[in-house]
Amino acid sequence: MSPYAHVTGWGMYVPQRILTNEDLAKIVETSDEWISSRTGIHQRHIASDSEDNVFMASEASLRALEVANVKPSEIDLIILATSSPEQFFPATACLVQDRVGASRAGAYDLLAACSGFIYAMNNAAQSIRSGAARTVLVIGVETLSHLVDWNDRATCILFGDGAGAFILQASEEPGGWLSGVMRSDGSGGDLLIYKVNRSRFPAEEKTHPADPLLNIHPYLRMDGKEVFRFATRVLGQVAIEALEKANLKLEDISIVIPHQANKRIIDSAMHYLNLPPERFFINVDRYGNTSTASIPIATCEALSAGKIKVGDNIVFVGFGAGLSWGASVVEWTGPFLTKRKVRPARLRFYARVRSVILRLLRRIDMFFWGRRNKDI
Ligand code: ACO
Repeated sequence: MSPYAHVTGWGMYVPQRILTNEDLAKIVETSDEWISSRTGIHQRHIASDSEDNVFMASEASLRALEVANVKPSEIDLIILATSSPEQFFPATACLVQDRVGASRAGAYDLLAACSGFIYAMNNAAQSIRSGAARTVLVIGVETLSHLVDWNDRATCILFGDGAGAFILQASEEPGGWLSGVMRSDGSGGDLLIYKVNRSRFPAEEKTHPADPLLNIHPYLRMDGKEVFRFATRVLGQVAIEALEKANLKLEDISIVIPHQANKRIIDSAMHYLNLPPERFFINVDRYGNTSTASIPIATCEALSAGKIKVGDNIVFVGFGAGLSWGASVVEWTGPFLTKRKVRPARLRFYARVRSVILRLLRRIDMFFWGRRNKDI
């Protein structure tokens, strides 16, 4: 019988620095009143130079390992969803693997924009259900503040930085991840786009006169109205689809944790599903849109606020560039192991020592390999 995939750990990290709407009004022509009423956002966190994606993702992951009481060496797979990767390669997931000391884990990045965490969680659960992995670390991390044009008031007000992580573990006990839905529509690819590389032209050719999808551009660009319209159309629909797949009804659901992009979009989903506000968790007011990190950050806060209990059915639902959208239904489990104590400070230290030793051994090995293989 295939094992079930349970969420047993969770963690988040947000940068220290907070940028309020009043602060933004000093940078671009806007106001707290406009931003709050159109988006529900009051403030967002902005990463410093030392809070890069690897750092934030690793901190969120170490906290998730602590909650789950899982050692990094037990992780089989790391799936890191991001819309703002450190670089094209190596995958940010590999750098996190080194930073947390996940010595036997495979690691890859997943790009599905703001739907990324849903896609990653579905992939992780399916890896566990198929028997390919028993413990998976799923991460959403963003430094979107580095992608936005701080002169463009239509986009720079929306986004924030941060990271969130889940540990998913296999168990023969029924429950955990119950269903997942993933959808896409590339015909809307130009509605939300960040283009810093192209496969069809050499890097020196920066623009293409006819097709905006072919233009390299240093900042994220968005048709806000179209994205808004798309999001309000798909959010409720895909939640219902995932529920049907899980053989559940709306009344079986304790809470919906939607991607936190805009309060008005979440309100429209509430309206579509005909659910009261207390059945939705919203924290976009304090973090803005943190893309792939928004769902795990919201989950951590919902747990801290006592809004999730063991046995609750939760719908996670997201949408984003691509266009892409999706949902997951999860029966909440919590940690399997409560006796043993995994301590982030120790894990951080061991991982650093391990990384230094591995780098050193690689150099020594290279030296002797060179001497042995002079003729190759
Ligand atoms: N402050 C003041 N005025 C502004 C601002 C601002 N920050 N931004 C735009 N305006 C002005 C516009 O210039 C326009 O003025 P005009 O009427 O004189 O031309 C007016 O406000 C209305 O602008 P709209 O774009 O029509 O405003 P709208 O109500 O659509 O809200 C918003 C814009 C908030 C961007 C909304 O469209 C939205 O949230 N869209 C979804 C965006 C989103 O969620 N993207 C992320 C997807 S997830 C991912 O993959 C990253």
